Amino acid sequence: MAKANLIDNLNRALPAAARKALTAIVQDAQGEALAIYLVGGSVRDLLLNRPTLDVDLTLEGDAPALARRVAFGLEDVRCIIHSVFGTATLKGANFRLDLATARVETYERPGALPSVHPGSLQDDLFRRDFTVNAMALALTGDQRGAITDPFDGKSDLEAGLLRVLHEASFRDDATRILRAARYGSRLSFRLEPKTMRWLRRDVTYLEAISGPRIREELARLWREPQPERILLRLSELGALQAIHPTLSFDGSQAEAFGKLREIHATPSRTVYLALLAWKASQPEATALATRLALNKRETEAVRAVAEVRALERDLSAEVRPSRAVELLSPFPSAAVWALAAAGQESARVQASRYLRRWRYVKSSLDGHALLAMSAIPGPQLGQVLRRLKAAKLDGEVRSRRDEERLARELLHAGARTRT
Ligand code: CTP
Repeated sequence: MAKANLIDNLNRALPAAARKALTAIVQDAQGEALAIYLVGGSVRDLLLNRPTLDVDLTLEGDAPALARRVAFGLEDVRCIIHSVFGTATLKGANFRLDLATARVETYERPGALPSVHPGSLQDDLFRRDFTVNAMALALTGDQRGAITDPFDGKSDLEAGLLRVLHEASFRDDATRILRAARYGSRLSFRLEPKTMRWLRRDVTYLEAISGPRIREELARLWREPQPERILLRLSELGALQAIHPTLSFDGSQAEAFGKLREIHATPSRTVYLALLAWKASQPEATALATRLALNKRETEAVRAVAEVRALERDLSAEVRPSRAVELLSPFPSAAVWALAAAGQESARVQASRYLRRWRYVKSSLDGHALLAMSAIPGPQLGQVLRRLKAAKLDGEVRSRRDEERLARELLHAGARTRT
């Protein structure tokens, strides 16, 4: 692709406000005689002609200072600075631009976060994961439009290969194993043979990666259209087991992921996590939640999976809606979605009816309406309300009048038993 075209294509892909902010950044950098580059995944995607909305910029200079100056002159743009990392984000209503000071990273020990120092563009490209992510597109000066590609990422891009930059790459940062599987699936790229060998050799370094970092990579995985393909690959590479011994993923779970998307267009990551833990016992699920640093809501969903799974045999095709509600309502909805995707046929049907309709059903009469019918406040009132809801769920009453009739009968029967 011709040089200028890449920058044109970048500008075309961006919303107008992002384009304006990028132009202001480039002008400011030119004015200060600073070199600024588009780097990482955005260059890869631009060369692949895939729409890119993620804009990562690297500056041989003080990125937060530049971001502050530029944001000052732009309306409706927020500037978020992370001084320790030398990075800044410009955020508009429909875009974000990330700016970083070019840096060198050194790893003191496997799994640790790197120590970071300002560096040159070359240093900044050398700290990256794969050759296809280690290219830069110059946006300023005489070099504007030229690609810096020290590891021949372009050839790997053409050959569809993921290649690490050096032998210690996975040992330095084992999250790259998860990233390799994710890019491999998304771009339909293969691992270059040496990279594959090093990955298999170093897979156990995932043990040393902290829960929050694993959780962050998993969060990226859930945003892919078919995360199950990546999880199958990771399981085959032994990466899931290295993260936690109880973590596994097989063809039946992959199928459940597909079924989930048939019944839910945009599954939440909590539901995906519940499906990932579908086979775990409750103690295993608890250990997994700790390992993955899950939040409270996710932990509750993952821990509920074993109990929800045990409901499968109770949720036969004949079970009445009111009974299904009674069985399922104590559990977080994410765990019930997992059942609707991974359970036996009849349990799946009942769980998805519960999720779509039954859980929202309410009696037309509330406590006030019953009191107006001379009910006596107390536990009986609650019982009558529950009975009314069950009757509505099971189709025994079809209108408000039916419900009023039933309510009178129930209150009357209650009054008789009291006397
Ligand atoms: N990077 C890396 N090693 C990591 C994380 C990130 O080398 N563990 C580098 C890569 O060059 C990557 C860039 O930082 O391209 C930006 O990271 P991220 O936004 O996670 O990657 P993208 O390639 O932009 O991924 P995506 O397309 O999924 O947004």
